[in-house]
Formats: sequence, C-alpha cells, structure tokens
Amino acid sequence: MAGNRTFTMIKPDAVRAGHIGAILEKINAAGFKIVAMKMEQLSPQKAGDFYAVHRERPFYQELVEFMSSGPIVAVVLEKDNAVEDFRKLIGATNPAEAAPGTIRALFAKSIGENAVHGADSDENAAREIAFHFSQLEQFSY
Ligand code: RTP
Ligand code: MG
Repeated sequence: MAGNRTFTMIKPDAVRAGHIGAILEKINAAGFKIVAMKMEQLSPQKAGDFYAVHRERPFYQELVEFMSSGPIVAVVLEKDNAVEDFRKLIGATNPAEAAPGTIRALFAKSIGENAVHGADSDENAAREIAFHFSQLEQFSY
C-alpha cells in the first residue's frame, strides 16, 4: 500500500522570489496537510548528503551550490498516496516540460532552479523526513 507522507522543500530560488506563500497555498488546495515545517539554510555538506544519490552526475556540484545558496523551507505533507500525488502536483523536473498549472510550471526558472523538491518513493520520503525532522517536530492533528 502506498504511504501517506511525503517530503518537500521549497528551494532557494522560490524562497528568494517570495513564492513560499503561493506554493503552500497550492499544496493545501491539492489536499495535502502540513504536519512539519521549518525554514533553514543547508550547509554545502548537508545539501550534498541530501542529494548524495546524484554524486556522480555532471550537475551535482551546481546542485549542491544552489541548494546551499539561501534558505529553504522543509515540509512534511500528509495525504493518501502522498508521494505520487505530490510528484504530479509539482510537474516535471524541467519546467519547460512541466504540465500547465503544476508548481514547477508556475514558479520554476530552469531545470536546475526548479522551485521545489519532491520525494520520489515512500522509502526516500521516510529517509528525507528523518534527515530534517525529529519525531517531536512532526505532528498529528
Ligand atoms: P528533486 O529531487 O529536487 O525533487 O528533483 P527531481 O526528482 O525532479 O529531479 P532529480 O533527477 O532528482 O534531480 C535533482 C535536482 O537536480 C537538479 N538538476 N539539474 N542541470 C541539470 O541538468 C539538472 N538536472 C537535475 C534539479 O534541481 C533537480 O530538481
Ligand atoms: Mg529527485
């Protein structure tokens, strides 16, 4: 059965552009419940660890620099089928290919600076949630 939690970050480009509120509004309107949230600036070390799966990719250094370039908003979301439904809500990695109305179509600038992160599996969602939040920082209400 698909899990009911996913992990997202509003990336530094969208924070700098003042889109935190508009993105959270889209997330709420799509039926996701916010059960944990914090603003933080990732160190290059932490950004590199978070995206370690991409270590060998040509864009890795650029990705680490970008993700540590300013504050992000880390959020845990709850909804049935959370991971898959959230990936649909954010759209394709490259905003030029993202479906109309998706968060990346609306707010992303480029394939690198693409406004939001979304976990891509239940297993990765659980790992990413634990990476950013203690149990006490996650709520049920
Ligand atoms: P994310 O993990 O951030 O939700 O993005 P994603 O699954 O849609 O894409 P992924 O393949 O996991 O790539 C992670 C992030 O790396 C940057 N990227 N840059 N310049 C490039 O060709 C390139 N490709 C990927 C993006 O910030 C992407 O979201
Ligand atoms: Mg990914």
